Amino acid sequence: MNPSLLICPVCSEPLAAHVKSYTCSNGHSFDTAKEGYLNLLLSHQRKSKNPGDDKAMILARRRFFDSGAFEPITKAIQHATSHLPHSTILDCGCGEGHFLGALSGTRFGVDVSKEAIRCAAKRYKDVTWIVANGMRDLPFTDHSLDVILSVLAPRNVEEFARTLKADGQLILGVPGPNHLIELRTLLTANASDFEEKADEAAEKCAPLFKEKNREALNYEVLLNKAQITDLIQMTPIFWNSSPEAKEEVQQLNELSVTISFVLLTLKQSDPTLHNPE
Ligand SMILES: C[S@@+](CC[C@H](N)C(=O)[O-])C[C@H]1O[C@@H](n2cnc3c(N)ncnc32)[C@H](O)[C@@H]1O
Ligand SMILES: [Zn+2]
Repeated sequence: MNPSLLICPVCSEPLAAHVKSYTCSNGHSFDTAKEGYLNLLLSHQRKSKNPGDDKAMILARRRFFDSGAFEPITKAIQHATSHLPHSTILDCGCGEGHFLGALSGTRFGVDVSKEAIRCAAKRYKDVTWIVANGMRDLPFTDHSLDVILSVLAPRNVEEFARTLKADGQLILGVPGPNHLIELRTLLTANASDFEEKADEAAEKCAPLFKEKNREALNYEVLLNKAQITDLIQMTPIFWNSSPEAKEEVQQLNELSVTISFVLLTLKQSDPTLHNPE
């Protein structure tokens, strides 16, 4: 038996890894899927049968990342963790795995969408991919992680504090003020409310976390037709835009858009609060 830093979603006892399953000492057992991922999502922990992003959104996201349009963001995330080469990293709300797949270390990706995790597991073999609800108890032992990454995903600040090591880093990726402003204007989707996203994220993490670094990334990309369609499909703020407006934008052969992104690095304010020993 190989003890891991994973814990059982039923009883919180440590999970031991076997060839094709994980088990706890109370006899709860979780099979590894044929793609290699682990499903720790209990039926009462999901609001619908297939929670999280669906297959079409996941595939649009995968194609968009593969097109290279977010490469500067990928590089910035790699840079933010490059001084921690052997760390244990969790990407919570990891989607199809692009950002975590670009990092090194002992990596865990959690997402509530089975399709996302399946897609991630098919491409990135050296990562432990887990279907779980990141807004419930995270399936990790206390203070076992060096880095938690959360990019454009829901944040569970209490659980981040419990599972991060005392000197661990929380890295948040949030949209910057002008992110996709051209598309937001064309699709009349919240054209102005991105100004405060980074401040809001930092405030929501306080008082458990203190901001240590803030990096703003701003650049323009000329999107082709396929990229425009994928970006609209993968971006939640456009899901409520009118079908007519979307149809019109998707007729464009190209569109220059602003990518504006903020990477926040935070540390625990008072690790002793969560490290009583
Ligand atoms: C906008 S996508 C970002 C995905 C990835 N971080 C990226 O940047 O490509 C948000 C992701 O959060 C996931 N998600 C939503 N609610 C979640 C929850 N409660 N627990 C874990 N993941 C969740 C969705 O399934 C989706 O993959
Ligand atoms: Zn158990």
